[in-house]
Formats: sequence, structure tokens, C-alpha cells
Amino acid sequence: MDLVTVIAHPLVQHNLTRLRDRRTDPEEFRRGLGEVAALMVYEATRSFQTKPVNVRTPLAKTRGLQLRHPVILVPILRAGLGMLQPILQLIPHAQVGFIGMKRHEQSLRASVYHKSLPTELRPFEIILIDPMLATGGSAVAALNLLAERGAERVRLVNLVAAPEGIAHVHRYFPTLPIFTAAIDQRLNARGFILPGLGDAGDRLFGV
Ligand code: PRP
Repeated sequence: MDLVTVIAHPLVQHNLTRLRDRRTDPEEFRRGLGEVAALMVYEATRSFQTKPVNVRTPLAKTRGLQLRHPVILVPILRAGLGMLQPILQLIPHAQVGFIGMKRHEQSLRASVYHKSLPTELRPFEIILIDPMLATGGSAVAALNLLAERGAERVRLVNLVAAPEGIAHVHRYFPTLPIFTAAIDQRLNARGFILPGLGDAGDRLFGV
């Protein structure tokens, strides 16, 4: 599996363009982010392991497949919340953990203000969700929290990723798969992704 998968599906790219457009208001932004999240997770879960099981249809016995590992979704607050519900609709049996992370505006360092996770993450397939991968500081801090609890199978889903953020994540987690709709050009002096889509949290919640 490639370490970075850019999801080129036309519906993903169509939605991404709507989200980039500065005229898109929070109501439409929420809807668009939700739609694209569902499409992206379809791709991001393609390599989930399965196991064979017996099943009895109304007519006969047969063999089927089940997911081998339980799934936990972990949105990074706030902006990751905008991708959670549509993904839960596709994986309704998934558990949900939360990591609250705030990036300091000047230093760009991420600090954790909330975490709600199972103490033991070893059995899980974990999908870490955040629309933006900028410096990668938030993602690395979140991945460290997951690693402390034994996480073995983690994938990161970002709507937009900066090359700097991808490199930072892979410096600390060299085998981590990243799924994104776009690898943008670079970060600006304030640590925003260019061209990006602005501050995803603010655009989602209007604050
Ligand atoms: C933004 C964004 C990511 C993070 C990316 O969140 O949603 O979580 O910054 O930046 P990084 O890769 O440089 O760490 P922010 O801290 O602004 O919080 P918010 O989601 O509450 O708006």
C-alpha cells in the first residue's frame, strides 16, 4: 500500500473545490465536508482485513466475510467533528474516541485539551480524522497519544495535506498511511495551507 493516497475520485474533487471556494458558507461547508468524508473513508478502509465466517441465509449455509478488527474513529476536535457523522453512517458499529487539540497561533505548536479514548487500543483499526494536515504538529501529537495506548493499525484521513505536514508525520511514524483529497503547495508564514481552504474549524462552525 502506498503511504500517501490522493483520492482522485471526481466526486471527491468536486466537493473539495466547493469547500475551497471562499463563498461557501458554513451550512454548505458542513454538508460538503460530510459528503467528501464519506467518499474518502470508503477508499481509506479498502485495505481493512477481513475474516471468513459462516452465515445461514433463509435458504442455505454459505461463507461470508467480516471485518477482522473492531473499528474506532478518532476525530481531532474541532474540525474533525465535521467528518464524523457521515463516516459513522458507513461504519455504524464503530466506536468513537476524541482528541481535542489547539494549535497556538504564533508558535504553531499543538496542545492537547481533551482526550477520550479506550485505555487499550491494540485490537483496533483506528481512523484518525482531521480535515487539515498543515505543519503536522497536531497529527503527531494525536498519534503519540494513540501509540501510548498500544495502537498498531492507524490510518490518517485529511481532506487537504501540506507537503510539510506529510513529511513531519512520516518523520515520526514512517509507515503511517495517509489518505487525502489533495497535497497542496506549501504552508504560508502563518502556518496555513496554500491554496488550502482557510481555517476548517472556523468555516465549519462560523466562529
Ligand atoms: C487546525 C486544523 C488541524 C490543525 C492543523 O485546527 O483543524 O487540527 O490546525 O495544523 P497542524 O498540522 O499545523 O497542527 P486548530 O488548532 O485551528 O483547531 P480547530 O480545529 O478547533 O479550529
